[in-house]
Amino acid sequence: MNKKLELLDQKIAKAKLGGGKKRIAAQHHKGKLTARERVHFLLDEGSFEEIGMLVTHRCDDFGMQEQIVLGDGVVTGYGTIHGRLVYVFAQDFTVFGGSLSETHAEKICKIMDLAMKNGAPVIGLNDSGGARIQEGVNSLGGYADIFYRNVRSSGVIPQISAIMGPCAGGAVYSPAMTDFTVMVENTSYMFVTGPNVVKTVTNEEVTAEELGGAHTHATKSGVTHLTAVNELDCIEKIKRLLSYIPQNCEEKTPRLPYPLGEELRPQLTDIIPENAHQPYDMREVITGIADEDSFFEIHEEWAENIVVGFARLAGRSIGIVGNQPISLAGVLDVNSSRKGARFVRFCDCFNIPLLVLEDVPGFLPGTDQEWNGIITNGAKLLYAFSEATVPRVTVITRKAYGGAYDVMNSKHIGADMNFAWPTAEIAVMGAKGASEIIFKKEIESATDPAAMLAEKEREYQETFANPYRAAQRGFIDEVIDPKDTRRKLIKAFAMLENKVVDRPRRKHGNIPL
Ligand code: HXC
Repeated sequence: MNKKLELLDQKIAKAKLGGGKKRIAAQHHKGKLTARERVHFLLDEGSFEEIGMLVTHRCDDFGMQEQIVLGDGVVTGYGTIHGRLVYVFAQDFTVFGGSLSETHAEKICKIMDLAMKNGAPVIGLNDSGGARIQEGVNSLGGYADIFYRNVRSSGVIPQISAIMGPCAGGAVYSPAMTDFTVMVENTSYMFVTGPNVVKTVTNEEVTAEELGGAHTHATKSGVTHLTAVNELDCIEKIKRLLSYIPQNCEEKTPRLPYPLGEELRPQLTDIIPENAHQPYDMREVITGIADEDSFFEIHEEWAENIVVGFARLAGRSIGIVGNQPISLAGVLDVNSSRKGARFVRFCDCFNIPLLVLEDVPGFLPGTDQEWNGIITNGAKLLYAFSEATVPRVTVITRKAYGGAYDVMNSKHIGADMNFAWPTAEIAVMGAKGASEIIFKKEIESATDPAAMLAEKEREYQETFANPYRAAQRGFIDEVIDPKDTRRKLIKAFAMLENKVVDRPRRKHGNIPL
């Protein structure tokens, strides 16, 4: 027995060494942790149980039979984060560059299947040179097996991808189909074709960092939802993100204990500037409403004219979508519509109630927007809100103009409670533009056209640019004092806690992709 235990110990020690001390040192030299170190920091102390440590590849070509490494370049298993079950895989770059073989893929699929059956999140720590070149189609098949499971798991269990090294070629499509991607600055990149191919095909010269580094995907493409300054920061962000999300689509959102107090927030009173054209930061409204330090922003640097993120309200997590007046006056455009729609759909998948903070002058005009499909993309946000069945509450802080009024979680598309601040302006368009159109003749024939325009603008403003017409019709449930917003929202979401919506029988809808 002792001999047999010794053999087991030797095998475990060998597996834990991955690609060997030299390669581990090289990994550390690049500022990267090893796969096992990452898992160690991610999970609650002592909670990790490894699965498939002794798996080896089955490739006989190119001398691979001489190169057997236990575990085959990926550490897989389960453990807990803040006491809640998660499944994890961590690619080991020290073993064949973390490349994905048939058996490496099988290990990942095994934990994805377990996660689905047991209703818990999957976290993938990606650091890989892509398909194991020596294995050809076996490796490609392995990728497809993972992609298929990503899609089957979508909306059932949360899937989170950390990019902690290379992630190139078709390999990018697994993270792309998960719910959230976090990239580590300076040590990770994602692209479908790398700089060399780009140079050959388009003659563009670009570095890997410029083409697909964390900053690029956080600001230009929106491929990554979050960035991290280093790997430990990345791991902390994953843990924080999970704290807002239920374990699966059948569960309600996590709730922290919260003793209710008076809940008035006087600082909300003075946020809206006197001048309607002056911007303000919607984040101030969010932090004024949410539990202290609870706002966790997603896609912070991309499509900044809309703000999305998680927060807590009296201990319960909610998703927030807010127009952002300090960026392009909070207008809706292609990217902000896509960003908002994706976030709304995630929240709806996982029973996270939605709060919408609205100050929107409309959709962004121009050839760039029209030619890039503002029609189809704007429709995504409209579709996402309309189909969402979670509790949905809107607060109009200032502008709610035109089609954007309808889109931003209006009563008409199924919102449950619609509040407005007294500063709300709910109209087809801004007073100036509206007056120029409907009073064109009077203005042109006036002795002082500018004075006439100003008078008509005032008239229009008084008639429509307020929340009371909408409140008369019941499109707004209540006009509220800003300082009372938090209290009203806590009560509204508690009232909506057991909301049930019947959906028409169908296979699935056809969101305008
Ligand atoms: C097998 C690989 C490998 C791969 C790296 N290695 N990538 N082995 N298959 N795909 C091995 C190297 O041979 C090396 O082994 C070790 O990993 C470390 O690699 P280095 O090149 O020394 O590291 P580095 O300089 O950091 O460069 C990392 C890299 C580079 C940029 C990822 O290795 C690289 O370009 N690899 C190939 C990437 C690629 O073209 N993959 C296929 C993409 S197509 P030794 O023994 O020397 O330590 C794809 C299709 C997926 O993935 C399709 C899904 C539908």
